[in-house]
Amino acid sequence: MLVDRYNRKINYLRISVTDRCNLRCIYCMPKEGIPKLSHKEILRYEELLKIVRVAVQKGISKFRITGGEPLIRKDVIHFIQQLANIPGVRDISLTTNGVLLYQMAEELYNAGIHGINVSMDTLDPTKYMRITGRDYFNHVWRGIEHAEQIGFFPIKLNVVVMRGLNDDEILDFAKLTLDKPYHIRFIEFMPIGPEGVRHTERFISGPEIKSRIQALRKLIPVKSQSFDGPARRFKFRFAKGEIGFISPLSHPFCSSCNRLRLTADGKLRGCLFSDEGIDIKTSLRNGCSHEELGDLLISAITHKPKGHHFGEETFKRCASPMIRIGG
Ligand code: 5AD
Ligand code: SF4
Repeated sequence: MLVDRYNRKINYLRISVTDRCNLRCIYCMPKEGIPKLSHKEILRYEELLKIVRVAVQKGISKFRITGGEPLIRKDVIHFIQQLANIPGVRDISLTTNGVLLYQMAEELYNAGIHGINVSMDTLDPTKYMRITGRDYFNHVWRGIEHAEQIGFFPIKLNVVVMRGLNDDEILDFAKLTLDKPYHIRFIEFMPIGPEGVRHTERFISGPEIKSRIQALRKLIPVKSQSFDGPARRFKFRFAKGEIGFISPLSHPFCSSCNRLRLTADGKLRGCLFSDEGIDIKTSLRNGCSHEELGDLLISAITHKPKGHHFGEETFKRCASPMIRIGG
């Protein structure tokens, strides 16, 4: 069992398998794009699997595949199968923009992924185009429904709420849970990503989102078994789905954060918002032993910061783009 300096149990690793993406979300990608990593800079699948084996030995049992957009990396299904076959890997989930979900859902399910998070900030195709730069709304939506038919559960829809952009759809998203078994997760817009997205104007707090929904209908809290993520969970009576609030600014969840992140270029990061990362790739490629890899993992955990400093004067925008870290 891994426990950090602040007594947090670390049992969850998020693995970014690529820094590339087939969308251009306004809050993620600057207009001019970002320099791409070269193939050599990205960890190979064998390297990732080696890290996972060590992580499992140290007590990490939950894994999430992220990107960029993870489904655009070649042979990702085969990688997931291998990952799922490692003894001690108990849970693998995926964060995707859903563009390739329709084609890949079945293979993904068979490879061992049963829970997915799909980024879906709007229910309106025209707005989808405006937010993501691509006209894929209907295709993504078909992918989500297909995943539901195959049996994926839970299917979580990540909605980054932005005032003046999609906040008029909060109630539509909430009402969707009456008929659909989806978990809608309203995420507070965080001050990371490209400059010029007018974060201050666009920000809406989780409590404000929640009170708009409660004006419509009562929200009943959903009890979670153990710590199962940062969302505060609710549902409408008789609803098939759930409504969650992820509010890193209004309700920081740092004190119960159980995760580590591995970036596509092989840095272990203790926190999404801190640019400090431990370079694990160089050691791997210099042929370090399992023990040495384990020590690097421990060291990343030792350096895991206590929390983020949004809203404080000392807060610096973190220099690494989200697309490199995987959300
Ligand atoms: N604030 C909140 N969420 C963000 N994401 C990307 N950038 C931001 C931001 N600035 C979300 C995406 C995706 C997840 C990986 O991270 O919508 O669902
Ligand atoms: Fe791609 Fe996700 Fe960034 Fe959108 S937010 S550009 S889907 S990585």
